[in-house]
Order: sequence, then C-alpha cells, then structure tokens
Amino acid sequence: MRTASSASVFGLVFLLGFLFFSSSSSSCEASDSVYDTFIQCLASHSDPSPPASSIVYNQSNSSYTTVLQSYIRNRRFNTSSTPKPLIIVTPLVESHVQAAILCSKNVGMEMKIRSGGHDYDGLSYISDIPFFILDLFNLRAIDVNIGDETAWVQAGATLGELYYRIWEKSKLHGFPAGVGQTVGAGGHISGGGYGTMLRKYGLSIDQLVDAKIVDVNGRILDRKAMGEDLFWAIRGGGGSSFGVILAYKIKLVAVPETVTVFRVQRTLDQNATDLVYKWQLVADKIDNDLFIRVLLQPVTVNKNRTIRASFVSLFLGDAARLLSVMDKDFPALGLKKEDCMEMSWIESVLYWANFDNGTSPDALLNRTSDSVNFLKRKSDYVQTPISKDGLEWMWKKMIEIGKTGLVFNPYGGRMSEIPSSETAFPHRAGNIYKIQYSVNWSEEGEEADKEYMTQIRRLYSYMTPFVSKSPRGSFLNYRDVDIGVTKTWSYDEGKVYGAKYFMNNFDRLVKVKTAWDGAGLFGTHISVSVDVNMEAKPVELIGMTFHQKPPTVDWMDGTFDNALLSPAIPNCSS
Ligand SMILES: Cc1cc2nc3c(=O)[nH]c(=O)nc-3n(C[C@H](O)[C@H](O)[C@H](O)COP(=O)(O)OP(=O)(O)OC[C@H]3O[C@@H](n4cnc5c(N)ncnc54)[C@H](O)[C@@H]3O)c2cc1C
Ligand SMILES: *[C@@H]1O[C@H](CO)[C@@H](O)[C@H](O)[C@H]1NC(C)=O
Ligand SMILES: *[C@@H]1O[C@H](CO)[C@@H](O)[C@H](O)[C@H]1NC(C)=O
Ligand SMILES: *[C@@H]1O[C@H](CO)[C@@H](O)[C@H](O)[C@H]1NC(C)=O
Ligand SMILES: *[C@@H]1O[C@H](CO)[C@@H](O)[C@H](O)[C@H]1NC(C)=O
Ligand SMILES: *[C@@H]1O[C@H](CO)[C@@H](O)[C@H](O)[C@H]1NC(C)=O
Ligand SMILES: *[C@@H]1O[C@H](CO)[C@@H](O)[C@H](O)[C@H]1NC(C)=O
Ligand SMILES: *[C@@H]1O[C@H](CO)[C@@H](O)[C@H](O)[C@H]1NC(C)=O
Ligand SMILES: *[C@@H]1O[C@H](CO)[C@@H](O)[C@H](O)[C@H]1NC(C)=O
Repeated sequence: MRTASSASVFGLVFLLGFLFFSSSSSSCEASDSVYDTFIQCLASHSDPSPPASSIVYNQSNSSYTTVLQSYIRNRRFNTSSTPKPLIIVTPLVESHVQAAILCSKNVGMEMKIRSGGHDYDGLSYISDIPFFILDLFNLRAIDVNIGDETAWVQAGATLGELYYRIWEKSKLHGFPAGVGQTVGAGGHISGGGYGTMLRKYGLSIDQLVDAKIVDVNGRILDRKAMGEDLFWAIRGGGGSSFGVILAYKIKLVAVPETVTVFRVQRTLDQNATDLVYKWQLVADKIDNDLFIRVLLQPVTVNKNRTIRASFVSLFLGDAARLLSVMDKDFPALGLKKEDCMEMSWIESVLYWANFDNGTSPDALLNRTSDSVNFLKRKSDYVQTPISKDGLEWMWKKMIEIGKTGLVFNPYGGRMSEIPSSETAFPHRAGNIYKIQYSVNWSEEGEEADKEYMTQIRRLYSYMTPFVSKSPRGSFLNYRDVDIGVTKTWSYDEGKVYGAKYFMNNFDRLVKVKTAWDGAGLFGTHISVSVDVNMEAKPVELIGMTFHQKPPTVDWMDGTFDNALLSPAIPNCSS
C-alpha cells in the first residue's frame, strides 16, 4: 500500500524544474516578461488576424482569473495555493495552436492542453514548474452531416453540445460518449470515453474515423498524414502525450425513436446484496440494448447505516420489450411497468445528466457546471463475480470508512467483440464491469482533503482481492495520480502505471511516443532530456512526468512554494 506517499506526485517536479533552469539559462538571455516574448513569438508564427495579442491572458489581466476558473471542475484545484499558469493562451484559429506549440519550445514553459477541464486530477491546468495553458474552449465547432452519418467535432466542444447538434438534425442518431454535458470532447474521446450505449456500440473511439492533430513540429495532420500508429495511439492513449488534437471525425450511431430509462433503489434490508450479486452474473451478458449501472453508497435510513444500491438504466427500446428482457434475465430486480419511463434518446441524455423531467435540450448547451465540489476518483476492473460474502464484507468496510461510493459499469456486448489491441484502450473481453470509486466533499482545507483522500484510498486497498491483477487495471479517463508515482525515468518504472492504463498496449504506445515526440515536449516539460540520467527515452503517456528523485516537498501538505512559480523565464528564441 502506498497511501502515505502517493499524494506527493505533484511535488516531485521541483527538482526537474530546477535542473532545467540551471542548465538552460546559460545559453539564453533572461527576459522579464514571458508575456512579451510569447506574444512576439506567437505573432511571428501565426496569421496576423486575429492578432496574437487578443488571445493571451497574463496574470495582471482582469479576466485572467475568470478564464482560469471557468474550466476548473474540481474545487481541490481551485485554491490560492494551487499552481497557476503564467499565461493562458486561447486560440481562435488553428494557426494559433500551431504557433503555441512552436513558441512553447522557445520560451521554455511547460504547455498544458485543456479542452473541457474535467481531468479528475487537474492535469490539464496545473503543474509544479512554470507553465501555460493552451485552452481550447473557443475551438468548439460541430459540423453534423446526416447524409453520411458523420460529424466533425472540435476539441473544445462539450458532449452536451455534440448531443444537441446531432438531435437538431436527426432524432434517430446519437453518439456513444459520456454522461455529463460539460465534459470536453478533447480529453474525453482520446482517453477512451464511454457512456450508456457502451454495450451496444463500444467506446467513442470505436466510432472514430478521422482526426486532426498538431504535432511537435506544428504540422496539422489528418489520419492519412499521421498514419495508423499515431491514429491508434490517440484512440485511448490520451491525446496530451502526442500532440494537440484539433478535431475528431466521428461516425454517428442509430438510436430508436423511443428509449426507456429506470432507476430502482434497494437498501441492504431490501435484498441489495442478493441483487448486486445477481447483477454481476447478467449485466455483461444481457441484451446489448440494455445498460444497467449500479451506484453503491453508504446512507442512513431511520438512523441506521446501510448501503443503498441504485440500479440506473438506459434501454434502447420501449418499456414492453424491456420488461420482457428483465423478466427473462434479471427477474430478481422485480422491475415494474411503473418504474419505466419511455422517452426520446435526447431526453434520456438529460435524464442521465440529472436534469428535471421536462427540461429543454437547450440545457445541454449550458457550459456552467451545477455544483462543483472537492472530489477524487479511482478505478478498477472486475473479472470474476464477487461472492455474497465478499459483497457483505465490502459493505461493512464502506460503512466503516464513511463517505466513499462505488459505481459499477457493465461491460460485455460490443466491448467483448473488439480485440484489446484494436485501439490503445485495452480493457475489452474478460471484464465483467468497471468500478469507479467516488468521493465528494464540501469542507474546505487540508484536513478535509486528507480525510477524504485517505477514505477513498483505504477502500481501494480493501478491494484488492476482488479486482483485476497483474496488472491491476485502471481507466485512463478516471485519471488517478496515486497509481502514477515513479522515481526514475526508466522504462521499467514507467511501466508500473503505464501497464495499468494500457496493459499489453503499453509497449506500442512507447514506440509511438518515441517516434512522434522523442524529446518529450508533450505531456512533460522540455528539459527532461538535458541532464537527467535516462535509461530510456522519456515516456509520458498520461500528462504526468516521470521523476528522478523522491519528493522534497509534499504538495498535499500545503508546503508548496509559490515563489517557484514565477521565476524569470529564459528567452531562447533568438
Ligand atoms: C462530471 C464528470 C463526468 C464525467 N463523465 C464521464 C463519462 O461519463 N464517461 C467517461 O468516459 N468519462 C467521464 N468523465 C471523465 C472524463 O472523460 C475525463 O476527465 C476527460 O479526460 C475529460 O476531458 P476534458 O477535455 O473535459 O478534460 P481536460 O481536463 O481538458 O483534459 C483531460 C486530459 O486530456 C488532455 N487533453 C485535453 N484536450 C486535449 C486535446 N485537444 N489534445 C490533446 N490532449 C488533450 C489534457 O491535457 C488532459 O491530460 C467525467 C468527468 C467529470 C468531471
Ligand atoms: C499583461 O498584459 C497586458 C495586456 O493585456 C500588457 O499590457 C502588460 O504589459 C502585460 N504584463 C506583463 C507583466 O507582461
Ligand atoms: C486581457 O486579455 C485579453 C485577451 O488577450 C484582451 O483582449 C484584453 O484586452 C485584456 N484586458 C486587459 C485589461 O488588458
Ligand atoms: C473557484 O473559486 C471561485 C472563488 O474564488 C468561485 O467563484 C468559483 O465558482 C470556483 N470554481 C470552482 C470550479 O470551484
Ligand atoms: C438496521 O439495518 C440492519 C441491517 O441492514 C437491519 O437488520 C435492521 O433491521 C435495521 N434496523 C432498523 C431500525 O431499520
Ligand atoms: C428478498 O428476497 C426474498 C427471497 O429471495 C424474498 O422473499 C423477499 O420478498 C425479498 N425482499 C424484498 C424487500 O424484495
Ligand atoms: C415527465 O413529464 C411528462 C410531461 O412533460 C409526464 O407525462 C410524465 O409523467 C413525467 N414523468 C415523470 C416520471 O415525472
Ligand atoms: C446554466 O447552468 C447554471 C448552473 O446550473 C445555472 O445557474 C444557469 O442559470 C444556467 N444558465 C442558463 C442560461 O440556463
Ligand atoms: C459526487 O457528485 C457527483 C456530481 O458532482 C455525483 O454525480 C456523484 O453521485 C457524487 N458521488 C458521491 C459518492 O456522492
């Protein structure tokens, strides 16, 4: 167990930041204004109109804080001690992105790519070395072509906008991506995003037909130009290790005129244990039109602590057929006609996003999140059903721990038909379901952070006997820096978390990374190859860096030194 040390990953980067500045400043002249340098560089690399000066926010700009906070979706990273970018670059056209990549090399700042900002560990907008954010929220056009059943979606578009634009043109088309209208296409799709149509249509990347990416040299490449290796890598390998994804071309999928949803809740004295046990035996084998998620939460009923299991479902068909499927394959749940709500597919999107019945689809265009809390997520895969005794033991632990919940997401169906090597996302056949660990809190301060982070890590540790092993699988989109701690740059240590996210696809990803970004510009800072003693090429696959030495500063302890965030940036452009 590494619960004690795992919080410190962000602190590790200091050393490298230090090495970078001491090793590279000798060849560059110091400049007092990163802003001026960057603006000049941008202007010289991009079209004159719109001007570069209209897309860069520095810390003295009155809109800086608003722009920064607009796409922070986790209060854990919205505090005064959270590392802040020196500047935020908000491209309006593609050439701004190309220029930003070239200029990030020149000014020696780490570049963080942000689309929707939903990264659970804030990796799209924080770093411990001087950095800037390339914020893509302005690049959010969606072009739906019902004739050939495809759409081009820019990275900064939200999933809500995508669902809405499809619905505007056709009531019989949809797209299999995530729940949550404010999630960004940019990170979500490249991370292997999924939603309620996973069993029928697989992941969003399984419907990806083309993409546009800007590479380390500032070139814009489509699928043909990037080739099948890189196109394979961005389907589940995360975008940020390979370049900046500008847009995806997706294949739309068919949805019926009428779909059906239900939510059935049972506590322990209403046979929840038995139902969850039986759910495990059918959830991945039942009709592919049916997706039943189970949310498990410790709750208090009549002053009695218990576990509540919520079975929440989308069925791609009407209620009558759903009832016959349930009668045949999962009668124990006792689903009744009154539990079922028939609706259109777009209404089911709103239902799953927790909007009230009758809410207009316009709500999907709203980019403001409802209530953003402090949160932490982790993930696991389950390959053998957990016994009833096992479940009962889990409930006891969950109640004892306090607040952490679990979400079980069924696999099977289309997921089992696609080979693990088809895309960089590897978790296919053999997985019955995926677990999301989930804890939210609203108390401010380090004490609360520690308390809840410890809770979720304890539960994760207790679950070890029940989940996948060697390696223990994790879902890249449920970013979890706890599994990403490594102390050296060696391939072997990098593999520790790389294998969890990518299993047998890890080696191929390393090759693609080395071929396309061997110097490690993307997803890490550019100094890594200077004087760190590497045994292998830098391998950076999830937006995190690999580190040479154990941490000297533990960021979660609040000892982060803000002075390190605004050093003079060497100007290497000449
Ligand atoms: C409320 C909420 C609901 C969620 N629901 C689901 C769900 O239903 N299904 C699911 O699969 N996941 C879900 N997630 C997880 C989500 O898919 C991931 O956090 C995803 O990475 C978010 O993408 P983003 O663009 O919003 O995030 P960002 O934080 O902007 O980016 C995430 C990562 O991708 C990189 N990145 C972003 N844009 C680009 C780009 N254009 N090019 C290259 N790299 C890029 C970033 O640098 C970062 O490493 C949810 C998350 C939240 C907070
Ligand atoms: C910050 O940006 C403004 C323009 O928005 C510019 O006038 C000012 O000089 C910049 N400040 C620094 C320190 O670069
Ligand atoms: C802040 O930056 C934006 C974007 O570059 C610019 O349009 C705006 O004029 C700046 N505001 C101030 C007060 O400098
Ligand atoms: C971040 O904090 C500011 C106040 O400083 C608040 O207005 C904003 O809503 C917060 N955003 C998030 C995502 O927590
Ligand atoms: C409390 O929960 C336990 C276990 O689920 C149950 O046996 C007991 O009847 C419940 N007591 C009350 C008062 O609800
Ligand atoms: C629990 O299951 C038993 C038999 O398996 C059944 O008799 C009982 O009615 C169920 N209770 C509830 C509340 O569903
Ligand atoms: C939802 O609203 C419709 C009318 O807008 C109504 O007919 C239906 O019963 C409502 N469903 C629920 C579950 O409230
Ligand atoms: C957008 O959502 C936020 C949060 O739920 C809400 O406060 C706001 O009123 C909504 N805006 C519109 C235009 O509906
Ligand atoms: C945490 O909050 C999210 C909404 O932000 C909600 O969907 C989820 O169910 C909550 N999880 C827990 C365990 O409370």
